[in-house]
Amino acid sequence: MKGFFITFEGIEGSGKSSLARMSAEHLSSLGYSVVLTREPGGTPLGEMIRKLLLDPEGEPMTPLTELLLYFADRAEHIGKTILPSLKEGKVVICDRFSDSTIAYQGYGRGLDMETILELDRIAREGLTPDLTILLDLDVETGLGRNQAARKFDRFEAEDLEFHEKVRNGYREIARKSPERVRLVNASLPKEAVWDQVREVLESFVRSQTYRIDLPGNR
Ligand SMILES: Nc1ncnc2c1ncn2[C@@H]1O[C@H](COP(=O)(O)OP(=O)(O)OP(=O)(O)O)[C@@H](O)[C@H]1O
Ligand SMILES: [Mg+2]
Repeated sequence: MKGFFITFEGIEGSGKSSLARMSAEHLSSLGYSVVLTREPGGTPLGEMIRKLLLDPEGEPMTPLTELLLYFADRAEHIGKTILPSLKEGKVVICDRFSDSTIAYQGYGRGLDMETILELDRIAREGLTPDLTILLDLDVETGLGRNQAARKFDRFEAEDLEFHEKVRNGYREIARKSPERVRLVNASLPKEAVWDQVREVLESFVRSQTYRIDLPGNR
C-alpha cells in the first residue's frame, strides 16, 4: 500500500485535533496503517519546541525567533517521523503543517513571504501534503470553543484582527492550491463537519487507489 500525507489546517478551535483523530481512526478501520502526529511536536525534541512556542507564560520571543523555531520543529519532524513513515507505506495525518506557518507567521505576523516559503521548502525537504483539509469558520466561534474548553495558548492571546488575518490567509492558500486543499465548513455541529471530512477522505482515497496503478506515480 502506498503512503499518503494528509494535513489538517485551520484557526484556533476549528476542530483540527478532533477531526484528525476521527480521520485516523476511520482510515485505520478501513485497513490503513496510520500515524497521527502534530506540529509543533511529533518528535521528542519537537514536543519540547512546542512548549517553548505555545506556553503563554513563556519567555516572549521575536517574530523571527518564533519562525525559526517552527522550522527547526518541522525539520526534525520530517526527518524523524513523516518521511520514514511514508517510506514504510503508512498514512501520515498531521495536525497543522506548512500552511500554518504561512497563515500565522506570514499573513498573521506579516513576515516576508518569500523568506518563509524558501525556509519552509528546506525544512520539509520538498515534501508537499497529498491532501490538506482546511477547517474554515469565523474567528469568534473558534476562539469561543477553545474558551469553553478552557484551552489557552500564546496564540489565543492575540487580538481578533490577528486571527482574521490568519483565517483570510488560509482562504487565500486554498484559492491558490485548489487541487491540494479542500475547504470544509467547520462552523456546523461536529457530526456535520465529520460528514464533510469523511466524504473528502473517502473520495481522496479512491482517487489514490486508482492513481497507484498509473505509470509514473510514486
Ligand atoms: N463542530 C464543532 N462544534 C462545536 N464544538 C466543537 C466542534 N469541533 C470541535 N469542537 C470543540 O471545540 C474545541 C476545539 O476543538 P479542537 O481542539 O479539535 O480544535 P483545534 O482546531 O485542534 O484547536 P487548536 O487550534 O486550539 O489546537 C474542543 O473542545 C472540541 O471538542
Ligand atoms: Mg488542536
